[in-house]
Amino acid sequence: MSEETEIMVTPDGPLVVRGDFVVVDTHGDPVERRRDTVALCRCGRSRIQPYCDGSHAAGRPFTG
Ligand code: FES
Repeated sequence: MSEETEIMVTPDGPLVVRGDFVVVDTHGDPVERRRDTVALCRCGRSRIQPYCDGSHAAGRPFTG
């Protein structure tokens, strides 16, 4: 039986995801995941997409 997946929305920050899931890129290919719980960037500023690197809090400008 698989573990339930939880997605927590943080105020002005990432989506924190824990549980049983796979992260895939825009082509549907799996993205390496080193932790059971990950923070997915939703501001577009992270330099380690799709993961959050804290740039949302540092005010680093969005470079698209
Ligand atoms: S949400 Fe943290 S860098 Fe984008």
